[in-house]
Amino acid sequence: MRSSTDPKASTSERYRQFAEVEATGMSACYEAWALGVAGDPTVIGLIDSLPAPKRQPNLVLSAARFCGAEVGDYPAFATWLAANWARVEETCLSHATQTNEAARCAVLLPALAQLQGPLALIEVGASAGLCLHPDSYSYRYVFAAGPVKRMLHPAAGQSPVVLECEASGPVPLPAALPEVVWRAGIDLNPLDVTRQHDVDWLTALIWPEHADRRERLLAAVKVARGEPVRIVRGDLNEQVTALVAQAPAEATVVVFHTAVLAYLDELERGRFAETMAGLPARWLSNEGQGVVPGVLERLTEPPVARSDFVLALDGTPVAFTQPHGRSIHWLTPAPH
Ligand SMILES: C[S@@+](CC[C@H](N)C(=O)[O-])C[C@H]1O[C@@H](n2cnc3c(N)ncnc32)[C@H](O)[C@@H]1O
Repeated sequence: MRSSTDPKASTSERYRQFAEVEATGMSACYEAWALGVAGDPTVIGLIDSLPAPKRQPNLVLSAARFCGAEVGDYPAFATWLAANWARVEETCLSHATQTNEAARCAVLLPALAQLQGPLALIEVGASAGLCLHPDSYSYRYVFAAGPVKRMLHPAAGQSPVVLECEASGPVPLPAALPEVVWRAGIDLNPLDVTRQHDVDWLTALIWPEHADRRERLLAAVKVARGEPVRIVRGDLNEQVTALVAQAPAEATVVVFHTAVLAYLDELERGRFAETMAGLPARWLSNEGQGVVPGVLERLTEPPVARSDFVLALDGTPVAFTQPHGRSIHWLTPAPH
């Protein structure tokens, strides 16, 4: 299946795929815009003037909103885009899709909490590093069945950032948040939570209808400003081994990533999986179906939705997750 980030797919295919798999049910505006683009040769002509990796729907639509495109129907958007293409083009060329969603910590947490602490966290593809503070957020897990809600708070008390997550299946929620003694990230282009331009770009990357996510972003940025984290600039395959070697010996090192490996080609993904197998670290991945080598083949039940991510620990699937961290379905472990 072609994905919206696949530079080998045609622009029309990429936008249709984005509309039908990623935006549907998540953003009526982006679904309409992407479907409109998929069938509009004039706009496709503009987008095709960009290098192939820069044609991805999430980048072009975010750049348009960063430059002032108003939420509305497709014809108005197409007219606006034609009139403002030079600015949108410049923004696409100088920026990348680096959506940083602190709420993804809510789906990482149950897996992190199963590991022997204290933890040293390394996030590859960290963007601005908002997912490197799972111990600084509060969590509200809402179960469809059974005891309705479970709250978890940092040791210092309730956080201004409360991550709400719908939970199903036997989610192993801990009694307390894990202790994190060291943290660092890697990114091709680290964003800086203290730079207003970077925060504005992160805001534009949030889909139009997701007001709660914009609010959470700004609250999480404040939390992250209070605890600066080093994010190494570079490719994850080039940097991860050296960073693991720098983590404190007394901690369990966890290399994790969410919504990152789709940006790598198959060879690079395979290389990363091989590296992880040989490193003295646990490996927590939260990625689209079929993105992490070997994970899909080990599923014991089919995903609930096509857009679900698969959370895997050391290559073994443990949960299906909503891509922005809104829900988690923990898998029943396979009998031995
Ligand atoms: C969609 S963002 C996800 C950010 C964060 N993990 C989260 O879930 O909120 C993907 C990030 O991966 C980074 N990235 C993509 N390819 C990379 C690579 N080869 N090496 C390091 N970082 C990469 C991008 O720069 C971007 O910041």
